Amino acid sequence: MGYSEISKNIFFVGAVDPKRKLFDELIPLTDGTTYNSYLVKGSRFSALLDTVDPTMIDVLMNNLESLNVKKIDFIVSHHAEQDHSGVIYDIAKKFPEAAIIANKKGKDMLMNLLRIPEKRFRVIEDGEVLSLGDKTLQFIITPWVHWPETMSTYLKENRILFSCDFFGSHFSFDRLMATENDIEKVMSAAKRYYGEIMLPFASNIRTNMKKLQDYKIDMIAPSHGPVHDDPSFIINAYREWSSDKPGNTVVLPYVSMHGSTKKMVDYFKNSLENRGVRVFDFNLTDGDTGELAAALINAATIIIGTPTVLTGPHPLAVYAAYLVKALRPRVRFISIIGSYGWSGKKTLELLADILSPLKAELIEPVVIKGLPTNGDLESLDDLADKIKEAHSRIL
Ligand code: FEO
Repeated sequence: MGYSEISKNIFFVGAVDPKRKLFDELIPLTDGTTYNSYLVKGSRFSALLDTVDPTMIDVLMNNLESLNVKKIDFIVSHHAEQDHSGVIYDIAKKFPEAAIIANKKGKDMLMNLLRIPEKRFRVIEDGEVLSLGDKTLQFIITPWVHWPETMSTYLKENRILFSCDFFGSHFSFDRLMATENDIEKVMSAAKRYYGEIMLPFASNIRTNMKKLQDYKIDMIAPSHGPVHDDPSFIINAYREWSSDKPGNTVVLPYVSMHGSTKKMVDYFKNSLENRGVRVFDFNLTDGDTGELAAALINAATIIIGTPTVLTGPHPLAVYAAYLVKALRPRVRFISIIGSYGWSGKKTLELLADILSPLKAELIEPVVIKGLPTNGDLESLDDLADKIKEAHSRIL
């Protein structure tokens, strides 16, 4: 894509990576991603806000060269994770007069992760202002979105918030500014990104959102995905996604070896939907864990569907339960359904143990022997009744 000017003398100089399929060796990317680095040229000084993933160093360097950048005075690091910071030291070596701007935690992490010498840093405090001449940067510490050191920069004259991962999306584009027609796609990618990256930090997000209320923001320029030139969409979405109130929704990741658990899942899904409960079911053998993460944002209940394999849950069900636990959604109820050949006791114990940190109420599971009988299907109807009743208590 090359560089592009997002506002007068403010340039995107980052990289588009449409072919990347996996992030953190964990998160499937359906639309690739971008590493957004921005150059802000003031009348006296220039600042580079974040860099790019190390695999894309040539793109950043070429963009700076194409813009004929001879001097960078400040390199602002919003976040020490290497997809944004990985090239900071290379840039600092190329521009030896540049000071690396970070908060205290960020500086310590960058020194540790990238072995950058301390003398290159200028440590800023929350709210500190840096004048570039006709442009003024204000640093806002926005911790835990999604690391402890994360911060944002507000460009006062242009009312632009550079938010790094906060409000971002893994979505690659042939242009940086989304049009009105792109809103649905961009918001879907942003929701998935929220589920994968931000979901465990909902309370921190609420705190940071309150902090940002004091700023008039005309544009949000994150470090992944498109720039939001109408920030109200993403701000309102973050309000909804980070709220404490779940929806009337069940998320049902499942795996089935010989069809018995699948039969239970299909019947149970239908039973819940007949009671007005929305169900997102995911076949874990071909499911997309990004979709699962996005569905968890609004779920009140999670049900794991699994057969018993060698006296325990299927490994894919263990993976799903562990992922759910790690993402810390606001689910209030959990349960388990599935079929076993000779004993299912350990399946229940192990999954319930993995999910216990969620502190959700365990609704009596339905784990049956072999192919479900009519009596077993009635037990699933009973479970659906209990879930409907449980949701009515909290919604
Ligand atoms: Fe995009 Fe947390 O790095």
